[in-house]
Amino acid sequence: MTVRHFLTLTDLDNGEIKRLLKRAIELKTMQRNGVGYAPLKNKVLAMIFEKSSTRTRVSFETAMAHFGGQALFLSSRDTQLGRGETIEDSARVLSSMVDCIMVRTFEHEKIELFARHSSVPVINGLTDDAHPCQLLADMQTYFEHRGDIQGKTVTWIGDGNNMCQSYMQAAKLLDFKLKITCPEGYEPDQKFIDETSGHIELVADPKKACEQSDLIATDVWASMGQEEERELRIKDFKPYQVNASLMQMAKPDALFMHCLPAHRGEEVSAEVIDGKQSVAWDEAENRLHVQKALLEFLLVG
Ligand code: CP
Ligand code: NVA
Repeated sequence: MTVRHFLTLTDLDNGEIKRLLKRAIELKTMQRNGVGYAPLKNKVLAMIFEKSSTRTRVSFETAMAHFGGQALFLSSRDTQLGRGETIEDSARVLSSMVDCIMVRTFEHEKIELFARHSSVPVINGLTDDAHPCQLLADMQTYFEHRGDIQGKTVTWIGDGNNMCQSYMQAAKLLDFKLKITCPEGYEPDQKFIDETSGHIELVADPKKACEQSDLIATDVWASMGQEEERELRIKDFKPYQVNASLMQMAKPDALFMHCLPAHRGEEVSAEVIDGKQSVAWDEAENRLHVQKALLEFLLVG
């Protein structure tokens, strides 16, 4: 039997994503109503973190606890992986003991290599290329607030980073239009542009990019691993701050999303992220519900 991994959104098809989002909304309602559901009794999720995390760690750990299973937090600082044990050997050994493995790392190739040597499903908890779990939560949030995203217009403002690239894949899979506006030199990888070309448009002017948009999304200007570029990036990204005047270009009922952590006064103004159009807090909470749906899909079927 081939193992199903979730390394990028394209590991799911349109029908699977839609069913997963529907299920996430059901699981959220069940939790709100105090309905206990523990389909992962005796199952263990190992979580390897080579970068910091608040939401990803807490949402996966809580999901496993609610589901009757357990999660193991493994930091590369304290495991042999951090002392040079190979990815291949680590994947083989860990997957012989646990039921699922979540990995947050740098190069995307590392998680692909890990998955090739894992006998259990591997979930991408963020790489330099992609953040597919976050996109599931963003899409759940959109569906909850506005219904189906098919045919809608979404604007990505800022860095052409892992989040942007996952938005590009979401645009293709869920059939919405994504306008991307980044400072010159910070565009997404050509590979993602080629893959999603029918659904994306690179727009130089941030104001134009926001026109008639149903959803504005942004992220930090310097991602984890880019700390040394932070000062330069703050200068280069200045015109790309999502503030009230940019939000005014979008549709009056446009939503604002940010995967968090946010830097108020940099990529987003406080009035926007703390304002009426922001659904950043639902988006964060939905990590829990949609990852429960994902774990159920991968481990129960
Ligand atoms: N959005 C997100 O992945 O947050 P963490 O880095 O806190 O996990
Ligand atoms: N682009 C950010 C997302 C953090 C959740 C990073 O990679 O650091």
